[in-house]
Amino acid sequence: MRWLLNSRTWSPSSSQFSYCLSLLPTPQQDEIIRFVKFEDQKRYILSRLMQQMLIHVVFNIPYKEIVISRTKEGKPYVEPCYLNASAPNVNFSVSHHGDYVALASETLCLVGLDIMGDEGNDEPEEYIKNFRSYFTVLEWDNINSAGQDGRQLLDQFHRYWCMKESYIKAVGIGIGFELRRAEFFFKDGNIWGDSPCLRLDGIERTDWHFYLFHLRDNHWVCVSKGPPGDAIESFKKTLHTINVSDVSLAHVLKQKDPAFTELTIMDIIPVATLEGQTNLI
Ligand SMILES: CC(C)(COP(=O)(O)OP(=O)(O)OC[C@H]1O[C@@H](n2cnc3c(N)ncnc32)[C@H](O)[C@@H]1OP(=O)(O)O)[C@@H](O)C(=O)NCCC(=O)NCCS
Repeated sequence: MRWLLNSRTWSPSSSQFSYCLSLLPTPQQDEIIRFVKFEDQKRYILSRLMQQMLIHVVFNIPYKEIVISRTKEGKPYVEPCYLNASAPNVNFSVSHHGDYVALASETLCLVGLDIMGDEGNDEPEEYIKNFRSYFTVLEWDNINSAGQDGRQLLDQFHRYWCMKESYIKAVGIGIGFELRRAEFFFKDGNIWGDSPCLRLDGIERTDWHFYLFHLRDNHWVCVSKGPPGDAIESFKKTLHTINVSDVSLAHVLKQKDPAFTELTIMDIIPVATLEGQTNLI
């Protein structure tokens, strides 16, 4: 699945907001209302509703019975008891940034997803300097050769940032990974290409595939796919089949990444609870 939802265009009344919040487990509700900004609260609600919907759709589990746990590093995962030989490694990754919330899921390989958008950066050159230490020399050169204007500089910075984060999120690392260990490059030298390659600790990883998509209003999203054996230990324990045959893995990894399906709030609300609720958009 590749799902995308524009959170900016969702303007719930306070009762609609409370209703959507009530569809989540109480601890998650508490977590969400602690965010000060309404936009953050909205993005988190949408992200968590999307995750519930994924489990419901893939495993046909009633909403009330869905449990989504997290590794100690924070990666959400499907309870291993739901996994089986035909859906061995159902895993997913979500991101909420700027105007968008998105989710990507896979049944066999690992998947990571990250979105980057503008945060009102008036001085792109000054802004990106703060992140110099996270990039290799090659990456920094590529970012800075993006073009003359600040827009291109920011776009290229966002592209590189979401490549790195999509890898981190696929393997489940979270905070603590030295981002320069994962160097991204474009084989044909076109830094605006949509299929970057990964060198990890200096070694090219042809078993990882990355796809960049340009979304509206200067947002970029990167989806990564890689072998289950690369998951960190805590996340690996949640998967069913780590040793996947090279042939089946190569088949999945080489497929072109599907386009995102754009959803609305009405698509991610459990239908059975909708009675009496209208105009949630
Ligand atoms: C975990 C992390 C990858 C989240 O990324 P983010 O850009 O802050 O936020 P996003 O909206 O893209 O992603 C949030 C989602 O990441 C997921 N996530 C959290 N921890 C995760 C982990 N260890 N692995 C994979 N996914 C994780 C969650 O699903 C979360 O959404 P949810 O709470 O609604 O379920 C990020 O905070 C992080 O740790 N980065 C480390 C990289 C680093 O060192 N950066 C330098 C800091 S300046």
